[in-house]
This record gives sequence, structure tokens and C-alpha cells, in this order.
Amino acid sequence: MFKVTVPATSANLGVGYDVMGLAVDLYLNVDFEPQPQGLTILGGDPKFQNSDNLIYRAFQKGCEAIGKPVPGVQLTVDCDIPDARGLGSSAACIVAGLAGANYWFDSPLNDTQLLALATEMEGHPDNVAPAIFGELTATIMNNKLPVVAHYQVADKWQLAVVIPDTPLSTAKARSVLPKSMTYAQASYQMGHCTLAATALERGDRELLQAAMHDQMQEPYRASLIHGFTEIKSLGQQLGLNVLISGAGSTMLAIGQDENKLQRFLQVAKRQHPTWRCQQVNIQQHGAMISEVSAVAEA
Ligand code: HSE
Repeated sequence: MFKVTVPATSANLGVGYDVMGLAVDLYLNVDFEPQPQGLTILGGDPKFQNSDNLIYRAFQKGCEAIGKPVPGVQLTVDCDIPDARGLGSSAACIVAGLAGANYWFDSPLNDTQLLALATEMEGHPDNVAPAIFGELTATIMNNKLPVVAHYQVADKWQLAVVIPDTPLSTAKARSVLPKSMTYAQASYQMGHCTLAATALERGDRELLQAAMHDQMQEPYRASLIHGFTEIKSLGQQLGLNVLISGAGSTMLAIGQDENKLQRFLQVAKRQHPTWRCQQVNIQQHGAMISEVSAVAEA
């Protein structure tokens, strides 16, 4: 028996729509245990305890890519990544299933191959890349194949998430975006995205402040997220960058001052007592696998 642990991911980082993604320390854990045949799923939402389960579909896809029949398996799911909140819950499921299949058959696939399979399932690479490689990634598609750059992020950054009660489907959040943009808008966005990645890597607070002005998705999605304007302006008052995590509804705050981040969380929680508001850390490693011994099981 073995355990696959996959981090949550915050895609886009505001200005890097469908390109950038950051791994954070909320996790999906899945135990894989052989059984004579078929599928058993324990844990997680009961409505996903069947063969439509995304972890299992990814496991099947991984077996197929490796050229092996799908073995009988028991999956035990323990997930702290909220569903449909812009923290990469579906990417984590996909990566867990693929990584599980790969490890099951002695790891014939490398991370780049896993990324290609995961991107095929997810539709875009920005969540699955940091879920596999950890930390900050930027990914482009070349002839339908993802090409990834991995950034080491300066350890000065402090992060917090404000997670509303209400989910937001990625399909809905994508449907409100315009179909095209001008050269001037594309140039604006390329510049901001490039400088944001550099700022995160260098730990340059002023550069990040200058770069974190998204014109590609935030203006269109803001009204879908209850409380976004207030949370964003609270962050601005405290000198924090607040952006929509992935397609939302979570808001991610980035800064370098622990006290300001704590103050931000206190006020957000006071305004929205039922929301989950907490600090998170950048997760350096992507999907991790550990053997679970019989002693640990007992
Ligand atoms: N880049 C994606 C989006 C992330 O913003 O729609 C959500 O899966």
C-alpha cells in the first residue's frame, strides 16, 4: 500500500491566466491498496465513491498510457482542498490518479509525461503543473504538449486564502471572458505576467505591486465572487496583493508582513464568519509518494 499526496494549487496568479500556478500546503491524500478486482473508494464525498471518480479515471488513464490492465484497487481519500473554489481540487485528483498508476507499475513515466497526460484531462496546464512540480510554474502549450518552467520563489512571501462558502464553476468563470483581445492588451498582459514571475522569484515587493494588475480575467470575474471588491480593497489598505485564485471563488493575498496578513485574515473573518480564512505556505514539492507500512496501518 502507498500514499500519494498532492498539493492544492492557485492558478493564474492574477496576471498569468492559464499559464502560471503556485502550489500551496493544503493537500489531497490518497491511499492505494491492491484488491483482487474492481474498485472500492473510502472517504471523500459519498457521491464520488464510484467509477466516475476523477482520481480513478486518472488512474485508469495512467494504466492505459503505461500499457497495463487496470488492477483491482481500493482508494482511501482524505482531502483538505475545497471543491470548486479555485484551489486546484480537480487537478489534484487527476495528478493523484496518474501518479498512483505510475508508481503502481514502477514509475515508467517521468514528470513531463505525467504533465502531458494531466493537461489532456484538465484541459489547461496551470494547475496540474505546480501539482506535479511544486512551487511556481509557468507552462505553455507547443503542438498540444505542455512545456513547463519551474521557478524557485523567494521565501519572504507570506500567503493567505479567503475561501467563500459558495463554489464557482470554472466553466461559468470562463464563460464571462471575452473571446479576443487587442495587441495592446496582449502586450500589457505579457509584460505584467513576466514581471510578476520575476518579482515572486526575487522577493521584490515593489515589482510585484506594479505587476499585479490583471486586465484579462479579474475585471470580468470580480462580480461573480461575493465580497471580492471589499476583500481586494482591504488588501490594498494593508499593502497586500489580493487576486482571484484560479477561476475563483477563493481570494489569495500575497505580502511579506505577517502582522498585516493576520490583520487581513481577522477582518475578512469578521466580515464573513462562515468563510474559511487562513494562512497558507508555498509548497516546494509537487506530488509525493510514500510507502505505508503494515505497522502504520494497524
Ligand atoms: N486558468 C484557469 C482559469 C484556472 O482561470 O479558468 C481554473 O482551472
